[in-house]
Amino acid sequence: MPNKLMIINGPNLNMLGKREPEIYGKESLEDVKSYTEKLIVKNKLEATLFWYQSNVEGELVTQIQSLHGSDFKGLIINPGAYSHTSIAILDALKILKIPIVEVHLSNTHAREDYRAKRLSAMQATIVLEGLGKKAYYVGLLSILLD
Ligand code: DQA
Repeated sequence: MPNKLMIINGPNLNMLGKREPEIYGKESLEDVKSYTEKLIVKNKLEATLFWYQSNVEGELVTQIQSLHGSDFKGLIINPGAYSHTSIAILDALKILKIPIVEVHLSNTHAREDYRAKRLSAMQATIVLEGLGKKAYYVGLLSILLD
């Protein structure tokens, strides 16, 4: 299978479309998924996406760990609020040897002070913020261009 990419979404991202639509948009995570998958087909990219979402920190850690020694070409991760708090997720990312793109739909720098610290981003190859639903596609593109 060519260019396997894992896309992990953390807590509350399953509520996209319903949560604070003025910040995160009106589309659901399913909508974001189909938007991204359609762009892959339209632009004839050879990539297979595996989408995972959990609200549970330990489950996210386990999913990240599962990429160790696998044939995945890269990880795109939106850790949600765990980006600001989770040493466990940072430590799990440190185990990986593949490119990691951290994405945030919103520009966290333009928001509350408590979002300024982004622990997981310390281990990211690339960080994308403020692109809204485009973030996942731009993130995977940046991995495929390598
Ligand atoms: C977010 C930004 C985080 O600060 C927030 O806790 C989220 C979503 C984003 O995609 O903009 O849950 O990761």
